[in-house]
Amino acid sequence: MKRLLIVTAICVFCVVLGLIGSELQPDSRSEGQTAASRGKQNTEMKNGFVTVYTARHYEADPLLFEAFTKKTGIEVVEIKGTAEELIARMKRDGDRSDADLFFAVDGGVLNVAKRENVLQPLRSETLDSQVPAKWRDPDHYWTGVATRARVIVYAKDRVKPEELSTYEDLTDEKWRGRVLARSYASLYNQSLLASFIALNGADEAERWARGIVANFARTPEGGDRDQAQAIADGIGDVAIMNTYYVGQLAASSDPDEAQLAEGLGVFFPNQETTGTHLNISGIGLARYSENRDNALKLMEYLTSKEGQTLLARESFEFPVNLEAEAADPLRSWGTFKAQRLDFADLEQYRQEAIGIFDKAGWK
Ligand code: FE2
Repeated sequence: MKRLLIVTAICVFCVVLGLIGSELQPDSRSEGQTAASRGKQNTEMKNGFVTVYTARHYEADPLLFEAFTKKTGIEVVEIKGTAEELIARMKRDGDRSDADLFFAVDGGVLNVAKRENVLQPLRSETLDSQVPAKWRDPDHYWTGVATRARVIVYAKDRVKPEELSTYEDLTDEKWRGRVLARSYASLYNQSLLASFIALNGADEAERWARGIVANFARTPEGGDRDQAQAIADGIGDVAIMNTYYVGQLAASSDPDEAQLAEGLGVFFPNQETTGTHLNISGIGLARYSENRDNALKLMEYLTSKEGQTLLARESFEFPVNLEAEAADPLRSWGTFKAQRLDFADLEQYRQEAIGIFDKAGWK
């Protein structure tokens, strides 16, 4: 009887402890966390799993992860959010974090993750051989997976490519009422302007932003794709857009989108001067990863010739592995000169860029 009482007391104690423990668990409300917890409990999985905190929003990624799982037996658990949210969550959770990898689309953001101490260095000969050093963090906190250019897209029936030259030229009065771009709340525009501050100084960057605002065809609205649609609708003639959106439209199974893409030309600006703005998608090992081997395997797969070919075909970004080729129509655009700058500059000048957009009246 006494023994039974002791056993019962121990059980009650364990239940209470369990309840307290679950209170202390990191945010378990999101779907992703639940999936991760399930992942940790699932003993049936052949080779374990890897949890990716991802700020990317492309349909290509789940396809890549599926292909990786098929090849390795390692399940990929995706936890989505904005880069800011994911970095904050990793910081808050500390060594209880279930993040193995952090995947994001901007060199500045990757640098924030490195500076905020949520990543750890990781070196592998395979990564070194698959990704040129210029696309990797010099201290090995992240590796590039793909690049994207922010270019001038134009209406083929109203603009000749010979009329285009530089981002700066879009401030010329010949473009009055013809220029389209999305809001400055977009990280893509913030990094573009940050790159101009880094390359030309804040005064020039402000002159540019004011000049573009003066030439806007309409108050900025929508995403990059919406600027392409506005060209098709005759609202404006030139738009500042990321390359992969044009690729996605061209390859779309929706005949309207494919037709829209046919009317668009892609121009790589600043070829005689500072180069076209290029940004990077990259991935880094989370500081408290418990699945380091699986994380490394996924990084190596994503940057392998096979992974890169699949990525390029599905996302229309440019591969970083030289053995993989860009998909059409990107391949048909040929090579171009890109800006030469440190991706850390994109973070360094981001706040200043936001201030300039605000002053210039760019919505
Ligand atoms: Fe995007």
